[in-house]
Amino acid sequence: MFPGTAAPVAGSPALMPDAARVCQCNNVTKGQIRACWEAGARDVAAVATATRATTGCGTCRDTVEGIVGLLREELGNGAVPGQAQPYGEWSQRSA
Ligand code: FES
Repeated sequence: MFPGTAAPVAGSPALMPDAARVCQCNNVTKGQIRACWEAGARDVAAVATATRATTGCGTCRDTVEGIVGLLREELGNGAVPGQAQPYGEWSQRSA
């Protein structure tokens, strides 16, 4: 931990404020991950590409996965009928 930096975030992703820094290596907050989700990133790899979270030491990966899972539960997959979807999620849904 560096002086003057925020403490690592512990606990459930649901309890984290958007300002909570999730990735210490790349200074990525929960709010940035949420913004990625809203912009179309639907998995950890897409979030990593957009923010660089998980691309340093990797210790934040579980937390990033938790946030992505939480957003999926809260907001659904954001899929739009007729548009290509990551991971074939539409094909896994019942009509
Ligand atoms: S804390 Fe995220 S890569 Fe190190």
